[in-house]
Amino acid sequence: MTTYHFPRGFLWGTATASHQVEGNNTNNNWYRWEQDGKTKHHSGLACDWWGGRWREDMDRAVETGQNAHRFSIEWSRIQPEPDRWDEDALEKYRAMARGMVERGITPMVTLHHFTDPFWLYERCGWEKEETVALFEKYVRKVVEALKEYVNLWTTINEPNIYSLSGYVSGDFPACNKGLAVAVRVLANLLRGHAAAYHVIHQIQPEARVGYALHYRPMVPANSWSPLDRLMRNIQYSGVNLAFPTGISTGVIRTPLGKISIPQARGTQDFLGLNYYSVDTVKFDLTKAKEMFGKRFYPADSDFSATKFIANIPEGLYQSIEWIAKTYPDLPILITENGVEDPADAMRPRYLAQHLHQAWRAVNYGFPVKGYFHWSLVDNFEWERGWTQRFGLWGLEVETQARIRRPSVDFYAAICKENGISRAMVEQYAPEVLEKIFPNVTP
Ligand code: FCB
Repeated sequence: MTTYHFPRGFLWGTATASHQVEGNNTNNNWYRWEQDGKTKHHSGLACDWWGGRWREDMDRAVETGQNAHRFSIEWSRIQPEPDRWDEDALEKYRAMARGMVERGITPMVTLHHFTDPFWLYERCGWEKEETVALFEKYVRKVVEALKEYVNLWTTINEPNIYSLSGYVSGDFPACNKGLAVAVRVLANLLRGHAAAYHVIHQIQPEARVGYALHYRPMVPANSWSPLDRLMRNIQYSGVNLAFPTGISTGVIRTPLGKISIPQARGTQDFLGLNYYSVDTVKFDLTKAKEMFGKRFYPADSDFSATKFIANIPEGLYQSIEWIAKTYPDLPILITENGVEDPADAMRPRYLAQHLHQAWRAVNYGFPVKGYFHWSLVDNFEWERGWTQRFGLWGLEVETQARIRRPSVDFYAAICKENGISRAMVEQYAPEVLEKIFPNVTP
């Protein structure tokens, strides 16, 4: 076979998030976090989407064969104060969604992607159950405004990472800290997700609603070590399973006990998978905060520029397999996958190998319906600032210039073909050709 084709109607896109691309986002907890010096850089103008550059970037997306885009709404813009809604901001998001539809791009909207309005943060946000009702009101407002253009919704992006990075590791803004708080936050996020799911369906019965799960396959450092295996299992269920189990059973199970959230049961029409890499887990007495499990990549990994990601494409197949076995027949969208690579030295092979694995999963019969690469243009990478470059296009932060990396053309060829061919891999990622299209001599 010389081309691995995807099913007709497959969504090919990229993903972004409001705070990372809009610029001048000055009314949320991340802005404050940046002002407090907790991030490597400031988001500043970011990719200037709020200034209108989403248009030129959507032109780029459509010219290069993409047919979908995942972007997020900034709650702090819609509701700048607890008792004030900003209709102009809503109108701007309507223009954005309309602009995508007019270009033939299917919009997928994320309602919460890590940021919270500053006023909510001051009240300790998701630590409090009262935030659930506030979130529901905001969701109602957004869905009423965008329903004409959007019917594909991600409620919450990576609830597991939001809660662990804020309340356990301290990389993200958080009011109080500790495992018990993190669990409380996760439970409230699940309540928020469930409320959003129900309200969206009330307003738009045909909507397809899910959330984006950051799923990380894990392996014990030494498979013969019972302690490594135990640590692997603890980390694996803490990071990966708490939220999805909450959705399938209506109960969150944690080392600190069970929390019953029956209204969350079955609240997903698809599962959004954010996949980046696989963790190795080792028992480590110095990691009390992480319950004595150290997560790392083996030293001989194929590392990204800052070693944030190890290129382990089989993990994508394993993640899809896990989803398909856990939720038979549930459509799967790969809502994020990508690598930080300013030189575009690894991205072409990362892309080729991961899409090969996605194709294997489709070919096996798993219901994968789309792929959103992270990201379209380099954008503001949270506490890591501008040190990590995930864009197909590079960004010169000072001038707003976009730089076309070779991966742009590689991904364009894939999107236009609705498949990945031997010739494409030979041209853009020859170093993995033999792995993807083995030369089988009869
Ligand atoms: C994910 C986030 C996304 C981006 C990528 C690199 O965890 O959802 O915003 O930062 O990582």
